[in-house]
Amino acid sequence: MQELKIPNHVAIIMDGNGRWATSRGKKRSAGHLEGSKTLEKLALHSIKKGVKVLSVYAFSTDNFKRSKEEVDYLMDLFIIQFKNKMKKIIKENIKVVFSGRQHPLREDVLSAMNEITEKTKNNTNGILNICLNYGGQEEIVDAAKKFAEDIVNKKISMDSIDKQSFNKYLYQNLPPVDLLIRTSGEYRISNFMPYQISYAEFYFTNVLFPDFNEDEFDKAIESFNNRDRRFGNAK
Ligand code: FPP
Repeated sequence: MQELKIPNHVAIIMDGNGRWATSRGKKRSAGHLEGSKTLEKLALHSIKKGVKVLSVYAFSTDNFKRSKEEVDYLMDLFIIQFKNKMKKIIKENIKVVFSGRQHPLREDVLSAMNEITEKTKNNTNGILNICLNYGGQEEIVDAAKKFAEDIVNKKISMDSIDKQSFNKYLYQNLPPVDLLIRTSGEYRISNFMPYQISYAEFYFTNVLFPDFNEDEFDKAIESFNNRDRRFGNAK
């Protein structure tokens, strides 16, 4: 049997928490809570399997359009998870980083984010990149601004920029995404990591995120193994 290829960088659009909850007669918040448990399991499982970076879409810049009740619930949930509940992730030597804009996140959310970033900054087993208040077009615009600033301050020359060096201006300087997963039967990218997914393989599943367990993750890896990645080359 051929050895399983493990993607270096996996990205997940964690969709379907709300439907998971309402189909059980529960409030949407119950779906987010269950989703956060699934995320912890997947982070541990994927890194154990040899994935080096797991990027997850926790909250988009557009999610601020949701009801105040839902936004507040999610922010409180993030704080609880970052401050108290990510013990296993820390113990497993996983580094947690964040991608996204700071404004208009609450101070207590930013401080919980800082705390877990600091606590895990020297961890070496793998990276969990949490995209929070994240937008992909916003990321490219923010990167272009930082780049322009470096040109104006004569820190770099216009000619020195190419697609690899531009990567350093993104929120995190991570390798390209190899496998992008979206749960819950939606076939959209929703402004998630457009720069990084240029050559990613896509995996869509009807499973709602809270139910996207380790076995479902393994199915996505199997599917990745059946793809013929040519990166623009001829067959
Ligand atoms: C999309 O499902 C999901 C979100 C907007 C929130 C994702 C957040 C988590 C999984 C919790 C993550 C926890 C940490 C600690 C980072 P939806 O609400 O749009 O579902 P629906 O489409 O069924 O309504």
